[in-house]
Amino acid sequence: MATTGNGAHGGIALRFNEATKLQYINLDNKPPLYKVYPGLRAISLPDVAELQGPQMPTLAAIKGDDAAGSSAPLTLEKLTTLLYHSAAVIRRRQLSDGEVHYRAAASAGALYPTEIYVVCGDLEGLRAGVYHFNPRDCTLARLRNGDLRRWVASAVGDHAAYPASLVFTTVFWRSAWKYRERGYRYCYWDLGTIASNMLATGNAENLSVRLNFGFVDRMLTGYMGIDGQTEAPSLVASLGTPDGMLPDGPGDVPGALPQESNDLAAGAIEYPMSAALHAASPLQTHEDLSNWNAAVANAAQSEKDELDGTGDRFRPLRSGSDGAFDAGVDIGAIESAGLGDCIRSRGSTRRFSRDPIPWEAFRSVVDAAGSGMNAPGVEGGYGSTLSLYFIVNAVEGLEPGAYYYNPFYNGLRLLKSGDFREMAGHLGFEQALPADAAAVAFITADLQQIERDLGPRGYRMAQTLAGIIGGRLYLGMHALGLGATGLTFFDDSVVEFFSPHAAGQSAVFVVPMGAQGVPNRVRPFRSQVAVSLDSRARGAGQEA
Ligand SMILES: Cc1cc2nc3c(=O)[nH]c(=O)nc-3n(C[C@H](O)[C@H](O)[C@H](O)COP(=O)(O)O)c2cc1C
Repeated sequence: MATTGNGAHGGIALRFNEATKLQYINLDNKPPLYKVYPGLRAISLPDVAELQGPQMPTLAAIKGDDAAGSSAPLTLEKLTTLLYHSAAVIRRRQLSDGEVHYRAAASAGALYPTEIYVVCGDLEGLRAGVYHFNPRDCTLARLRNGDLRRWVASAVGDHAAYPASLVFTTVFWRSAWKYRERGYRYCYWDLGTIASNMLATGNAENLSVRLNFGFVDRMLTGYMGIDGQTEAPSLVASLGTPDGMLPDGPGDVPGALPQESNDLAAGAIEYPMSAALHAASPLQTHEDLSNWNAAVANAAQSEKDELDGTGDRFRPLRSGSDGAFDAGVDIGAIESAGLGDCIRSRGSTRRFSRDPIPWEAFRSVVDAAGSGMNAPGVEGGYGSTLSLYFIVNAVEGLEPGAYYYNPFYNGLRLLKSGDFREMAGHLGFEQALPADAAAVAFITADLQQIERDLGPRGYRMAQTLAGIIGGRLYLGMHALGLGATGLTFFDDSVVEFFSPHAAGQSAVFVVPMGAQGVPNRVRPFRSQVAVSLDSRARGAGQEA
C-alpha cells in the first residue's frame, strides 16, 4: 500500500512523518464508502417498498430455530429482502454539508468496511452469475456470467447445491483510516452486525442461512477479482435448501475480472501488524480447510461453563422460580416490533436516559442474543468461544453490580454488587453512553485458547461472533422501544474489572443498552478514574 500526500514521493523520513501526522480526520485519504464498477450497468432488484418485509416479532426472529430443512424456496424477492435488511441504506438525511446515508446494521465510525457478493444459479428474474451488491441503491452489478456456484462449493468444502451464496469481503483500509491497527478488529465487528441482521431476516423469512467461517481464501479472491489484502473474503453464507450436489470447481482460478472497480486503497497507510495477522490467517488448501473444520468442532466441546459453579449461584433468565435451567425464556411473553420495522428504524442510541428498564426486557434480549446459529461450531450458541459480562446499572428487580452470564445455566451470576456507572463510563472509553445506560454488555474471549485451538483465523471468527451477539443486542433492544450502541473500550481495564472471574480473557465488544435519552445527542463525560489517572501520570502520589 502507498503512503499518503507528500510521503508518496519522499524518502523514509517523509513517509514516516506523513503516516504519523495528527489531525482530527484526514478527508484527503478517506476511502470511498461504496465499491462501484463504473463500467457495469446497475441491475435493479424488486422495489423493497413493495415487498412485505420480515414481519416476525424481532425477538423471535433473533432467537429463531434455524430454518434448515424447512427453508422456503429462494426467490429474488427473498434475496432482496435479505440483502436490504442486512446491509442496505435504509435512511438518508440532508445535512448542511450534504446527504448522509444510514444503513441497516451499525458500523463503527460509520465506515462500513463490508462488501457483499451474490453467487447464484438461475433464479426467476436473475440469471446465474456472480454479482456485486451496491447498498446505496440496492442494486446488483454482474461481474461474471454463468453458474459458478461450484466455485463457492469447492471453496467452503460443501458441495450441496444451495441456490445462492453470499460472499462477504472486507475492505480493511476503510476502518484502518480511522482506527489504524485496531481497525482490523472493527472490520469483523461490523461484519457481525450485518450477519446478525441477516440471520434474523433469514429466520423471519423462513430461509435457511448457513454461515461458513472456513473456506479456501484464494479460491474466492480469484474469482471475485479481489487481491485478498486490500479486500479479502471474510464469511460465506449459503442460502436456502440445497437441490442436489455440485461438481468440483475447475482447478484453475479464472483470470482477472475484465471490469475495474473504483480504487479502494488510494492513499492507504500500511498497518503492518494487522497485515501480518491477516496474511497468517487464510486457509491455503482443502487439507487446511478440513483441519480447520475439525478444530472448530473440537473447540465447541468446551466445558468451562459447566464448571463455573452450581446452579444455585445463578439468577435464571427463564420465567418462574423452578424448572430446568436450560428451559429458556418465553420470548412470546413480551411484545417486540416486527423485524422489518425494527431494522428500518434502527439507529445507535446517542444518549441514554438513566431510567430503569424492565427485567422482562433485559432477560428476553439477553436470552435471544445467545441463541445458536446455523454455523459449524456455534450451533449451540457462542458459549464455547465467547463470554458475556454485564455492568447492571438500572434493571428493575436486579441488584446493580457486575455479573457474568453463564449460557450453560442460562443465568446471571453476581460477581460484585455496587453502583458502577462511573466505572462503566471509564471502561467505555470515557464516554457517557455506558455510564447512563441501564446495562452494559461486555463480550470477552479467551484469545490465547482460541489461537491455540484455531490458529490466527480463530481471531477473525471470535471477533465476528462478538459482532453478531452485539448486533442481536442492538436489534432486540430497539424492537422493545429501547436502545443500544456499539462502543469502544479500554481493553485491559475491562478484564481487570471483571477479574478474577475474567482473568485470561480479552475484551472483544461492548454494548450499552437502555432507555433512550432526550435529546438523543452525545453527552460529554469525564470519570473520576480518568481524573485520578491523569494526575498520577503527572507525578501525583510519587515520592519526590
Ligand atoms: C463496533 C462498533 C463500535 C462503536 N463504537 C462507538 C463508540 O465508541 N461511540 C459511539 O458513540 N458510537 C459507537 N458506535 C456506533 C456507530 O458510531 C454507529 O453505528 C454509526 O455511526 C452508524 O450509525 P447507526 O448505528 O445509527 O446507523 C459503534 C458501533 C459499532 C458497530
